Amino acid sequence: MSVVISGLTVSYGRSAVLSGLDLSVSQGELLVVAGPSGCGKSTLLRAVAGLVPFTGQVLVDGVPVRGTSRERAMVFQEDGLLPWRSALRNVELPLALQGVSRESRRSTALAWLDRVGLTGFEDYLPRSLSGGMRQRVQLARTLAQAPALVLMDEPFGALDAQTRSTMQRLVAEVLRETGTTTIFVTHDVDEAVLLGDRVVVLGAGEVDVHRDAILKAVMA
Ligand SMILES: Nc1ncnc2c1ncn2[C@@H]1O[C@H](COP(=O)(O)OP(=O)(O)OP(=O)(O)O)[C@@H](O)[C@H]1O
Ligand SMILES: [Mg+2]
Repeated sequence: MSVVISGLTVSYGRSAVLSGLDLSVSQGELLVVAGPSGCGKSTLLRAVAGLVPFTGQVLVDGVPVRGTSRERAMVFQEDGLLPWRSALRNVELPLALQGVSRESRRSTALAWLDRVGLTGFEDYLPRSLSGGMRQRVQLARTLAQAPALVLMDEPFGALDAQTRSTMQRLVAEVLRETGTTTIFVTHDVDEAVLLGDRVVVLGAGEVDVHRDAILKAVMA
């Protein structure tokens, strides 16, 4: 899926968080969005997901975004899991909504939980999982849906270095394999350089992925 954002303005109350933003992402591209805390990165993802009202235009494959869609899946910065459903049942839910049969959604969910290293934790409720484990459940839930457009909001923020690098590899592999278009928000320069086809710093425009030094300076 391609995304074309033009003149995007999002306001909470009277103050505009994003104002007249233009941005495009082509089919299969992984665009990294960076920028200081509070600059509107999560807000941008929420607008593309159809979760907040905005003015201007967000076109996904040429069609204006109005409300949410199953084709656009989001991994939230804060907890995005349903607290009363087990890890397994959280991953199964969107598949159930897609009409996937009980058996097939169970096996798909179990396979994804395994890929994110959570075999043995299927029946745990979110409150009994660590922050990093909850992020991995969200990741499994998102990738299991095979969405055409993935919106990731600092999905690895709560992970230790080693798990983070395993998850980065997994995500990069799956997204490239499936040609999924991705908007990925991160604070981490190394992650931006590793994963991004392009890096955009909100408020400062595009930064060359290969010029780490500049990126570090802009993201500091
Ligand atoms: N629901 C809301 N109601 C009112 N103001 C909000 C709301 N959500 C975000 N804001 C404000 O909008 C601005 C941008 O918030 P946003 O969450 O998009 O920032 P961010 O770039 O994702 O920051 P961080 O890197 O800390 O996650 C902030 O000033 C924040 O206070
Ligand atoms: Mg945020």
